[in-house]
This record gives sequence, C-alpha cells and structure tokens, in this order.
Amino acid sequence: KPASRESGWQGKGSYPNFLLKEINDQPRTTRAAISALFSPIAPGSPADWSATLDRPSIKRVRFLGCGSSYYAGEVSASFVEQLARVPAAAEPAAEFIQRRPVVEPDCLYVLISQSGETLDTLHAHRYLRRHPVQTLSFVNVVGSSLDRDSGASIHLRADKEVSVASTKVVTNMQIAGLALAAWLARADYGARSAELLELDLALPILPTILADLLAGKDAEIRAAAESVHAYRSMYYLGRGASWPVAREGAQKIKEISYIHAEAYQSSELKHGPLALVDPEHVSVVVAANDDSGNQDATLVSQIQARAGNVVVFSQHQTCEFGATTIRLPAIHPLLDHIVMGVALQLFAYHTATILDRDVDRPRNLAKSVTVE
Ligand code: G6P
Repeated sequence: KPASRESGWQGKGSYPNFLLKEINDQPRTTRAAISALFSPIAPGSPADWSATLDRPSIKRVRFLGCGSSYYAGEVSASFVEQLARVPAAAEPAAEFIQRRPVVEPDCLYVLISQSGETLDTLHAHRYLRRHPVQTLSFVNVVGSSLDRDSGASIHLRADKEVSVASTKVVTNMQIAGLALAAWLARADYGARSAELLELDLALPILPTILADLLAGKDAEIRAAAESVHAYRSMYYLGRGASWPVAREGAQKIKEISYIHAEAYQSSELKHGPLALVDPEHVSVVVAANDDSGNQDATLVSQIQARAGNVVVFSQHQTCEFGATTIRLPAIHPLLDHIVMGVALQLFAYHTATILDRDVDRPRNLAKSVTVE
C-alpha cells in the first residue's frame, strides 16, 4: 500500500474515489474516536460525560437522526439496552417532529448528524429545546449549526467526509453510542463491571481488526459482490442487535449500487417476505457471534430450499451455513456490529463499482439535506 493511503485524508490520495478512501480511513478514524471518547476519563475531557449530563435523571434514551445517522442511532440504542440495560430507541428526526411527540422529561434525547446541517434534525433539536429535557448531539462537523445550537455536543473526529454515502462517520457514531452506553452503565454498576472491563480491553484492538478486515477480506468480499451484482433485488437479514446493522447495510447498497434492498428481521422472513425468494433474488444474512448460529443456518437452508441465493457475513468462526460465507475477525460481541458494518460497506462499494456507478455522487442524493 502506498503511504498516502494511510495518511492523506485531505484528498483521495491514490484511491480511485473518496468512498474507498473513506472506508479505508477507518482504522485511523476509529482510533481517534476511541481515544477521545473512552480514555483517559479525565474531568472535562470528552469522555467525561458527567460534566454535561445528569445521569440519575436519565431513565431512557432516544436517538434522532436522518438516513444513515438514524441507523447509527438504532445500533446505538441496542448498545444502550445491552450494556446499560436502559430502555432506548431510535427514530427518524422528521417522523419525530411529524407526530408532535410528548417529550419525556426523564429521557435523554441524542441528535445524530454528520453535517450538523440536516434541516429535519435541526427542527427536532429546536423542538426539544423548548422543553426542560436533556439533549446531547453527536456531530462530525465542528462549528456546524447543530454543534453551535447544542449545549452539549460530542465531536465524532472522523475528519472530513466527502462521499455522499456516509461510512467512517457512521462507524464513529456507533462508537459514540457505545461510549454513551458505557458511561450510563458505569454510573450504575461501577467501573468494575466485568463486561465494561472486557470492553475496555477489546476497544483498542478494534482499529487493528478493521485494518485486517480491509486488507485481508477485500478480495473475498469483492468475489461475493461479483456473484450478486447482476441481481435486482436483495434482502438483508439480521436478528437482535444485527438487525440495525442489516438496515444500514441495505441502505448503503441501495444508495450506491441502485439495487433494490430491503432489510428484515431474520425471524420475520417466514411471515411474508419469503414469498419473493426465488432464483432471481439474493439474501445477505448478517450472522452475529451469539447463540443464534443454528437459527441462522436454518434460515439459510429455508432460503436455499426456495432456490434463493445467499451470502452470509458471519462473526461465527465455526458454524457451517452451506452458502458463500465471509468470516469476519472475532472481537468482543458488542464490537462485532461495528466490524460487520464496515464489511457491508465494502460489499456495497464493490457491488457498485462492478456496476460502474459513480460511488461518490450517487444519483438523486445530496450529502447534506438542508431543505424539508
Ligand atoms: C443525506 C445523506 C445521507 C445522510 C443523511 C443525514 O440524506 O445522503 O448519507 O445519512 O443526509 O445526514 P447528516 O449530515 O445529518 O448525518
């Protein structure tokens, strides 16, 4: 690899486009987010959430954003529920405003935006500011409207993102969600909770795992993309915490390859979506490294019994799926989802480039939507 690939974040360096460069930026940008948001937790540092938030009054968390930022909110909500056992949910910012919501005083509202300029997210924030409630923003562009309007912002430290489809910022949004979850959990269970200690040990490894994935799995992921690029319709299937990862994966392939993709919870397949499975259809199965390996193997065989095509992205190191399987490097179960998300970005990228799409400027889309 030329040196410019590691260091040149201001231009696209030797990469053919910004999207691939930004996907490959992630070992560096995740390291920046982890070191800012996790340790050392010095008073006043970004990791010191207690400087800005009142933990005892937070009984639930709601994440608001648009597009990929909303999906990052869904992943973050699952982190908060799993790690801190605090009820959490995500909602598209525009839908939140649309329903003129009851603002819950014991809820922490987290606004998520790469640009900090998305009008729907700004509207949601302004609506919330009229109520006595705690809000927090995750924002990448320092000094943006959302950043300036927010009493408390967490900067995502992914540097400039040029490509319309968000990649490295979405990953750092999830790291911020995980940092919030860890802070909420730490306040409840104390710093010695076994899971928190495990997470602290695993986090510094994440950038290396991503570097290994990007270098070591690229050819395999491209081959999988070759095998699916001619199909016109896909399902992305995940269960539990893999479900929001599947949603973001489907979003990414729609945005840049223009293949129709729809995400479903794996358990829902048999309740309707299975009707569309045939030899012209592809299902991407997002298989987490939990105790649902056998369920995922059954899912694959149900699809194959209808002559559907399957690609499995698996964190399981051993489970046999009887289909094309990209095995991803193992890491702490919560970090699995971040690794899986990056693999799905690369899969969407390769599918789109095989189809000769303009991956940096997909048709009909804008990097930042500042109108209603
Ligand atoms: C646009 C972009 C998406 C992005 C969304 C939210 O629709 O095309 O990639 O996820 O806006 O942008 P934000 O800057 O608020 O994260």
